[in-house]
Amino acid sequence: MKKPIRKAVFPVAGLGTRFLPATKAIPKEMLPIIDRPLIQYAVDEAREAGIEQLIFVTGRGKTSIVEHFDTAFELEATMQGRGKNLDVLAPTRIQPGNLVTVRQQVPMGLGHAIWCARAIVGDEPFAIFLPDELMIGRPGCMAQMVEAYNEVGGNLISVLEVPEEEVSSYGVIAPGKRLEHDLTEVVGLVEKPRRGEAPSNLIISGRYILQPEVMRTLESQGAGAGGEIQLTDAMAKMIGTQPFHAVTFAGRRFDCGNHLGFVEATLALALERPDMGDDVRAMARRLLDL
Ligand code: G1P
Repeated sequence: MKKPIRKAVFPVAGLGTRFLPATKAIPKEMLPIIDRPLIQYAVDEAREAGIEQLIFVTGRGKTSIVEHFDTAFELEATMQGRGKNLDVLAPTRIQPGNLVTVRQQVPMGLGHAIWCARAIVGDEPFAIFLPDELMIGRPGCMAQMVEAYNEVGGNLISVLEVPEEEVSSYGVIAPGKRLEHDLTEVVGLVEKPRRGEAPSNLIISGRYILQPEVMRTLESQGAGAGGEIQLTDAMAKMIGTQPFHAVTFAGRRFDCGNHLGFVEATLALALERPDMGDDVRAMARRLLDL
């Protein structure tokens, strides 16, 4: 019997320098795509996949992320007094005790951030969400991965194809046998390979289901690409000792860690919203002189 995926780690300690000055006093995870901060999309996706406990790896200046998922008594009392509907706040409510934060004091890389959550993760498989990566689909990316996990177990990462010139910004897989259900065996992993040295153009797109042994591997993991402790390097060491598969997400993905991806996500989601889609389309035509 496979252990269910009940816990998810959200590394949110990053400085967000690409979005300065917007992120000087606001965590990048709180930047909204229309009216929902990025972290909310990731948490929604986690809950849809059956995840119960949220583990935020935070750092200095990130308290607003935790506050976002707290009860705002004054706000709610005022809204109620004015006869306003509180349903809009429903996604921000967390079962008491199901939000845990740990601190990453020094930014030493994604692998180090995940390792900071080891005591809370304990001895069970867990999910990881990188909130920069906005995944939109039905079912959501993690729900699709959990379904695959229930079949093959072990470790799973979400992957997608990008143009050759983009691979060096990501973790890249060396694909093995292609199995059913959008599943591919992973036979190798490289973090931020140089152009021309990547084993494929299939990149890790920010969703993981990993076995707890990765924490022990991370314990002794030295610095890798960019001088940081890389999760990809620790995962690479686990290949061959445990099953490792990639899931190709049947949906859309926006890399909101860069300006263009962020703008594209905003446009795409605005165009789809029943309450504004038509107006946004008309607005876009006007702006483009069409
Ligand atoms: C991280 C991971 C990388 C992954 C990427 C997805 O890189 O290390 O393997 O492909 O997220 O966005 P970062 O964006 O932190 O440089």
